[in-house]
Amino acid sequence: MLDIFKKAQENKYAVGAFNVSNLEQIKAIFLAAQNLKSPIIISASEGEAEFIGKKHLRAIIDSYKKETGVEVILHQDHGKSFETIKDSIDAGYDSVQFDGSKLSFEENIEKTKRIVEYAQSKGVKNVEAEFNHLEGQSALIEKIELKKENFTDPSQAKDFVERTGVDALAVVIGNLHGVFKDCQNPKLDIDRLKEIREAVGQDVNLVLHGGSGIAEDDIKEAVKNGIVKINVNTELRMAYTNSLKKTLEDNPDQITPYKIMPLVVEAVQKVVEEKIKLFGSDNKL
Ligand code: 13P
Repeated sequence: MLDIFKKAQENKYAVGAFNVSNLEQIKAIFLAAQNLKSPIIISASEGEAEFIGKKHLRAIIDSYKKETGVEVILHQDHGKSFETIKDSIDAGYDSVQFDGSKLSFEENIEKTKRIVEYAQSKGVKNVEAEFNHLEGQSALIEKIELKKENFTDPSQAKDFVERTGVDALAVVIGNLHGVFKDCQNPKLDIDRLKEIREAVGQDVNLVLHGGSGIAEDDIKEAVKNGIVKINVNTELRMAYTNSLKKTLEDNPDQITPYKIMPLVVEAVQKVVEEKIKLFGSDNKL
């Protein structure tokens, strides 16, 4: 198991996995982590990584890591194919997620196993998988009614991790991607989480996707009951875009990027700092 998760499990906190696609977001996340002495995961989806470039992302993160001393891993978020994952591993990622949640259970197991084998052959110590599809997208979304029958089933989770040999599993326990426009996101099913934890054992890291918009008490309970990685994207995107819009509205004649972007970086940093404190990963470097 990667050290970053071993320490989180032992000390009962979760590490934030923050999505990025540009330098301002990376800068904001490192400033927050440095300020609060927190380990972090920098995450990029297929689209985000395509925009910034996987090798550039690796190089920028290495540079910040060296300068700040922050413990960080680079993670592929929702890789949908073997080729995507291979490309990320070959670009030097520390951790990958294969999302086969749209495949049948058996096909997902088969493909995940192949990815685990490739990752292990390249010394990558964290492969995360997903077999229940997580609804929504990282945006402001209309309310969705979640069905309990689509939540992660503990015995299926045990079967999946045993047969694939994955290091981490993304669970569906009432979480979704995105933030509801008009109301609070749904409550998490903490009892279900406890059952999953019990079924899969301590060697598998449990991951909570859709970390935006969840009530603080639910996040604390989830961390208490075994979640060690929490993915956050929508709230960072909102902070970035709202701040950028406001800065441009307030300064219509300003055209200099380095004078426009500091307030945007500050807005994203603030959200990351709130999440770090909520997940309990502050003062853990
Ligand atoms: P949110 O956009 O809801 O924070 O979810 C992010 C995520 O789970 C990325 O995998």
